[in-house]
Amino acid sequence: MILKLKDNCYILKKKHKKMKKRDFLKSLSGLGLSVPVMGRNFERLLTEHEGVSPEALAKNEEFWGEIRSGYVLKPDYINLENGYYCITPQPTFNAFVENIKKINYHGSYYMRNDRFPENTEVRHALAKAAGCLPEEIVVTRNTTESLDTVISGYDWKPGDEAVMAVQDYGAMLDHFDLQAKRYGMVNKRISVPLNPASDEEIVEVYEKAITPKTRLLMVCHIINITGQILPIKKISDMAHKHGVDVLVDGAHAFAHFDYKISDLGCDYYGTSLHKWLSSPLGVGFLYVRKGKAKSLWPIFGDNGYADDDIRKLNHTGTPAVHTDISILNALDYLQKIGIEKKEARLRYIKEYWVSQVRDYPGILVNTPADPKRSCGIANVGIAKMKPGILGKTLLEKYKIWTVPIDGANVHGCRITPNIYTTTEELDVFVKALKELA
Ligand SMILES: Cc1ncc(COP(=O)(O)O)c(C=O)c1O
Repeated sequence: MILKLKDNCYILKKKHKKMKKRDFLKSLSGLGLSVPVMGRNFERLLTEHEGVSPEALAKNEEFWGEIRSGYVLKPDYINLENGYYCITPQPTFNAFVENIKKINYHGSYYMRNDRFPENTEVRHALAKAAGCLPEEIVVTRNTTESLDTVISGYDWKPGDEAVMAVQDYGAMLDHFDLQAKRYGMVNKRISVPLNPASDEEIVEVYEKAITPKTRLLMVCHIINITGQILPIKKISDMAHKHGVDVLVDGAHAFAHFDYKISDLGCDYYGTSLHKWLSSPLGVGFLYVRKGKAKSLWPIFGDNGYADDDIRKLNHTGTPAVHTDISILNALDYLQKIGIEKKEARLRYIKEYWVSQVRDYPGILVNTPADPKRSCGIANVGIAKMKPGILGKTLLEKYKIWTVPIDGANVHGCRITPNIYTTTEELDVFVKALKELA
């Protein structure tokens, strides 16, 4: 029965390939569907600024103003809370809508014929952008799924230890607690110094928590509540000397600043693509270094793959394939702008507002003073104001949307502008902070 089904699929696939070449586009246009294209203005804008250095372009308000015009933004407030997820720009959004139409048009025919080849295409594109091998990456729903797959993939024994930070994301800390409850493993939590004298100071804090029983160290590539970027390569090298695996929470790193996973030296890496890649909601990826998949237990059973094949960790049932394939469109959008240019703009606007308030009486910036230790994310508090009140006042009095953080030694509002944010908007924010202080 199963074999017959597979055979049917194979025949259908061959027919479909033929159709694809000649008639597929025609059949779509007959239904009023079209193949997504980037807007001509967007293409022209990028071509015109191709040779400009990222640092020079970062300060070009006109350029970023045009990028902003490719977004549909709510006029009710200034959105400085892109850390939860980033709004999808119109070129990606339009492509996403076309993908929904395509999947709805084909129905299960798509699932039985094109789902896996297109998923492979997405994995290849992601691997190229992330700097790893296609066989080291799978598409997941988000960072939570990616990291929890690794955390619960260990065959934890009573007394085994894991190291992490109090500044890590709550859901992952909870998942480690769950393993402790279930298997009797032990979690050691350190606190990351905000203004270290050197990378080595941070590495030492992690190293001190390692014992002969430590098996896994989880570390944020960028801490979401402060925006602090951590020296992952140095932490990985140190951990490996002790025989400890390294799991990186890259929720806010991918498509935010430029790096290659292969340069980080870690064993596992998870991120959400609806954050800084600005994909439609509900996609992420999991990276497992070649050779490491075989020691992980999948959460969902799948006997279809070899023990060392990362895809064994990825069986979550029928996925939102239209969202998954839209990763290609989101990558295309990013690649057209260029990650170096995006990173430079995010760094520039962060420094633009932070430099105006860092030494202002009554204002506390909870982000490293060394600009290299952060990118677009920062955190700011008012000395005599609880973060919740600050967030509420910013919204109600100044129409500025942020998120209050009050824990893990951090007290303030997290500020996450995006590439559509203008310096004019940041001027409004700086003025508000100074008035409140
Ligand atoms: C550091 C960090 N890790 C993990 C997550 C979870 O991301 P998701 O909800 O997309 O799984 C977040 C979400 O903000 C985060 O900030």
